[in-house]
Amino acid sequence: MSKFPKGFLWGGATAANQCEGGWQADGKGIGVPDTMTGGTVSTPRMFYKEIRPDIYYPSHESIDMYHRYLDDIKLFGEMGFKCYRLSINWTRLFPNGDELEPNPKGVAFYRSIFEALKAEGITPLVTLSHYEFPYNLCLKWNGWADRRTIDCFVRYAETCFKEYGDIVKLWLTFNEINMGLMDHIGLFSTGVMPEQEPCVAISFGGEESHAHKQTRYRALHNQFVASAKVVQLAHAMDPEFKIGCMIAGSCVYPLTCNPDDILAAQREMYKGNYYCGDVMVRGAYGAMAKRILKEEQIDLDIQPGDEEILKKGTVDFYSFSYYSSNCATGAPQEAEATGNLSVGAKNPYLKASDWGWTIDPKGLRYYCNELYNRYQKPLFIVENGLGAADVLEEDKSVHDSYRIDYMRQHMEQMAEAIEDGVELMGYTCWGCIDLVSAGTGEMKKRYGMIYVDKNNDGSGTLDRYRKDSFYWYKKVIASNGEDL
Ligand code: BG6
Repeated sequence: MSKFPKGFLWGGATAANQCEGGWQADGKGIGVPDTMTGGTVSTPRMFYKEIRPDIYYPSHESIDMYHRYLDDIKLFGEMGFKCYRLSINWTRLFPNGDELEPNPKGVAFYRSIFEALKAEGITPLVTLSHYEFPYNLCLKWNGWADRRTIDCFVRYAETCFKEYGDIVKLWLTFNEINMGLMDHIGLFSTGVMPEQEPCVAISFGGEESHAHKQTRYRALHNQFVASAKVVQLAHAMDPEFKIGCMIAGSCVYPLTCNPDDILAAQREMYKGNYYCGDVMVRGAYGAMAKRILKEEQIDLDIQPGDEEILKKGTVDFYSFSYYSSNCATGAPQEAEATGNLSVGAKNPYLKASDWGWTIDPKGLRYYCNELYNRYQKPLFIVENGLGAADVLEEDKSVHDSYRIDYMRQHMEQMAEAIEDGVELMGYTCWGCIDLVSAGTGEMKKRYGMIYVDKNNDGSGTLDRYRKDSFYWYKKVIASNGEDL
C-alpha cells in the first residue's frame, strides 16, 4: 500500500518569467527578470539599468510557453499530473504595476491556461509573485521599500482572485520570500535598486552599506504586510481558498558537535527559515528575529496597525523549495555556495551536483519534521529537483537516470516523513519542463522531464521531447508513489 495519502498532489512547477517568453507580447510590461542577462556556473548574471539591444536576455523568449502552453499542458496531462504550480506574471496583468485596471489580454491569457488545466483534470497552484516584480515600480518607488507597493499588490491579487477564483483555489503569495534576507543586491527579491549599476544581478554576499541593508529588511517587512492583507482578502472572498507561504528551504546542520557550530547552525536555521516562517505562520516576528535585528542595527519602521494585520493574515499551509542542505560553523572559514540560497561549509558526507549544490535526500525528511513540529501546518514541497546538463541523443531520447535517482531518493524520504507523522499535501518538482535557470540564466542547467531544444545562446528549435524521467514519473503518479 502506498504511504502517500489519497489525493496527494503530484505534479510539477514553473515560474512565468522562466518559461513564458513573450516579454512584451499583448501589452506586457517589463519585469525585473527581463533586465537580467544570461550567465553560467562561473559567470554571474548582470544587471544594467537600461535594457541593451546588444545583449541576449534569456527571459525574453525563454521556452516560448506563451505560445505553446496548450501542448505543454497536454504533456503534463499525459504524465498524469494532479497539480501544476505556475506563477502569474504580474506585468501581464498590470504592465507598470500601478494601473487601476488590468490589461484584458493578460487576464485572458491566464484564463485560457486555467481552462486548459481544468480540461486535463489538473489542479492549479498559483504563485502570485515569483520574482516577477514590475520594473517600473523599482525605478519609481524603489520596489517594496515604498508602502504604496502594498496597495498595488493587493489590487493585483484581488484581480486574480476575482478572475480565476472559480478554478484556482490554491495560492501562494511570494516565492521564496526569505530570499529578501539573503540577496544582498536586493533587486531580484525585493525590487530595491542596487547601490550601483551595472552590477551582478543576484549575490549572497559582498559589500553593502548599512542603509541599503536596512532598506531591504524594511522592504521585506512590507512584503509580509502585503501578504497578510492578501491572505485576509482571500479568506473573505472565498472560504475554499487556501493560501500558503513559500520559503526557500534552508536546511542547516552544525559542521561538528562543537557548541559554537551548534549555535551557528541554530542561528542560520532561524535566519534562513523561521524569521519569515514565524511572521507568516504565527503572525509575529519571533524572539530571535528581534536579536538579529538588534545586532544588525536594523529599524524595521513598523507602522501602527501592521502587527494586527500580520496577526490576522496567517497562512493555511507552509510550502517550500528543497534542493540541498548546508553546514554552519562557528569558526571563520571560507564559505562556498552549496545550494540555491546557501553559502556555508562543505558537508564531507554528501556529494554535489555539477552546479555545486549538495544532494541530501535524508535532509528533506529531517527538514519536514523540523517544520511540521514547529508549526503543525500542512506542508507542500513545491520545488525539488536536479539541475543537470542532459544530452539529447540522435533518436531524440534523453537518458536521465541521475534525475530519476535523485527524485526517487527524495520521494523515499518524503514517505518516511509521512510515517513520522508529517502532513504532506503534495510534491511539485521544479522545472518539470526545461526552462531558464533563475540563478545563472542558463538553459543548460535542466530540471525537466520534458526536454526543450534550446541552448544558452538562444539557438534551438524549441521542440519538446520526453526524457526517460517522463515515463518514470508517470508511473510514480499512477501508483500514488508506491512504484518508485
Ligand atoms: C528556486 C527558485 O530558488 O530555485 C526557482 O524558486 C529556481 O525560480 C530554482 O529556478 C532553481 O534554481 P536555479 O538557479 O537552478 O534555476
